Amino acid sequence: MNDNKTWPQAGRERLIVPQPVGTVGTDLPDYRAEIMAKVDEKHVLMMGDNPALPRMPDKPRLQDFFNLRMNPSTRKHLLESARRAMDDGREDKVVLACLLHDITNACLIRTDHGYWAAQLIAPYVDAEVAWAVKYHQALRYTPDPAVGYEYPELYRELFGADYEPPAYIKKDAEYAMQHEWYMTSRLVTIYDIYFFDDLDKPVAIEDFDDLIARNFRQPEAGLGYDDSPTAHMWRTMIWPNNFL
Ligand SMILES: [Fe+2]
Ligand SMILES: [Fe+2]
Repeated sequence: MNDNKTWPQAGRERLIVPQPVGTVGTDLPDYRAEIMAKVDEKHVLMMGDNPALPRMPDKPRLQDFFNLRMNPSTRKHLLESARRAMDDGREDKVVLACLLHDITNACLIRTDHGYWAAQLIAPYVDAEVAWAVKYHQALRYTPDPAVGYEYPELYRELFGADYEPPAYIKKDAEYAMQHEWYMTSRLVTIYDIYFFDDLDKPVAIEDFDDLIARNFRQPEAGLGYDDSPTAHMWRTMIWPNNFL
């Protein structure tokens, strides 16, 4: 980065220990022990801004996480899903749910991402939007031919044709299908497809500035610094490499 601010922990090598949830159960070596053994007066564990990542502004907005933290493929998937929903004239809450449905996959965690994402955004969006994001995960596995939704071919490839979702997913899908907000979440699954490159122009998060202004309560202090029940989750995305 070519700004003039200094980086934290200057003058020492800053070591990054992978998050436990990212390595447990894998055959990766136990980096934690290995890296911690290196700590001495010249080596510290990383705390604070990482120069390998773009600096976040002092008061981050939702758009900053899209532009500065998300992995490009998930960002594109979210933007294109939302753009399709918008082009079809869907109401704001559907478009916003499409825009945010996989937000944690893009820069926090994939496992149970519908639940994580719903919790992350709940303080800032209409309850129906967070609900739709939560239940899209279970509804993805659950066909509803009446509205033209089939079990995704992609899931057969990704998980094997014999994969059966666990009981909590089935239970949550059944619950969601009886709920008054069902179609909001179902529409997220209908737009939850990989469109590849057939849009006339690339989609940017700024295309949704007006929609976000109408429907996402950006906190004055910035996401991560507003003392909301999920501020710590936004901070983890700002500093994904902090040791603690
Ligand atoms: Fe998803
Ligand atoms: Fe998705």
